[in-house]
Amino acid sequence: MNNERIDKLVNSFKDKFDGNPDILVRAPGRVNLIGEHTDYNDGFVFPVAIDRDIMIASRRRDDLIVRLYSLDFDQSVEFSLGDIKYDEEQKWSNYPRGVAFFLQESEYKISGLDAVITGNVPLGAGLSSSAAMEVAMATTFEKINGLTIEPAEMALLCQKAENKFVGMNCGIMDQFISRMGKKDHALLLDCRSLEYDLIPLNLENIKIVVCDTGKKRGLVDSEYNKRRAECERGVKILEKFLPGISALRDVEFSDLIKYSGHIPEITEKRCRYVIKENIRVLESVEAIEEFDLLKFGDLMNESHIGLRDEYEVSCPELDAMVEIAWKIDGVIGSRMTGAGFGGCTVSVVVEDSLQELIDKVNEEYPKRTGLQPEIYICTAEDGAGVVEI
Ligand code: GLA
Repeated sequence: MNNERIDKLVNSFKDKFDGNPDILVRAPGRVNLIGEHTDYNDGFVFPVAIDRDIMIASRRRDDLIVRLYSLDFDQSVEFSLGDIKYDEEQKWSNYPRGVAFFLQESEYKISGLDAVITGNVPLGAGLSSSAAMEVAMATTFEKINGLTIEPAEMALLCQKAENKFVGMNCGIMDQFISRMGKKDHALLLDCRSLEYDLIPLNLENIKIVVCDTGKKRGLVDSEYNKRRAECERGVKILEKFLPGISALRDVEFSDLIKYSGHIPEITEKRCRYVIKENIRVLESVEAIEEFDLLKFGDLMNESHIGLRDEYEVSCPELDAMVEIAWKIDGVIGSRMTGAGFGGCTVSVVVEDSLQELIDKVNEEYPKRTGLQPEIYICTAEDGAGVVEI
């Protein structure tokens, strides 16, 4: 399947730009196993890079012109590195534009290029197609110009492009895992220090299943920003009692309870979720290291309940999908993944129960929601890199 995609990409490059590309780069999407809405609270996340990616075939130019062709949208754009502006029409091109803009702002000398882009990360499903696009583009500029960009710096640059150029105020998780994922591993990331640990996933007889609800994440941007603001508000109030804290990461659960009378109810609920979710991430890693999958599954389920009842970023479609999975014996754990308000769930499932899960989802989910689900069985893959052609 990947070979076919590569052939198609290279042929399309030859078609559009004459001659061969210099390099082919890929960057994966991600699924977060646990640690949701913790990254912008300086907390912990535990994602894996998946076998769905954005690929870019490119050739260096000697001038400052960037010509991009999106194979999937059948659209071309052209811009100069000397004058990068937001594109209202072809919005997908704002990710490459933003990345080029911030690479140059960080004083990296880059030249123009011709490139063809293709991807199989489903768009708008919460599997981080945007981060994959940013990281694929940054890696392309890096390789084609013979630069060395530290992985954490690249992730931060890509996050900046998304925050300041595209205008989505995301945390660091998606860009970091797309750059740093490792085959058969999940990544525990401390989103404050950016220290990380790659944790081997012993996935023999176990599958990671992503179920797309088909519900587009309509409210996500505005509600995401509201949640961020509520967390910041919580920190502001708690700071009066706990001098020196700068994020919810620094707050003990017992302290939240102690001062909860001073915090508005909704804000307190949000803080409660984040503080507990951070603890769950660390406990999950321990559980995985001790091969205690049942414990890990319970923590995933608790995470979903917290996202549903305390953080309130789930929706009836995500809840339905998770409830269908929870009823199956061989499902170790299941929760919504990503920002919420639609998108996907992630389930960890014993291989023998995989078919039952697929059948139940296909049968029950449309009845409950009127929507058609998509099911992806994912493997944990390497982060961004060059693909041999
Ligand atoms: C989106 C953001 C991430 C993270 C998740 C929620 O995917 O891009 O930074 O905040 O939502 O965990």
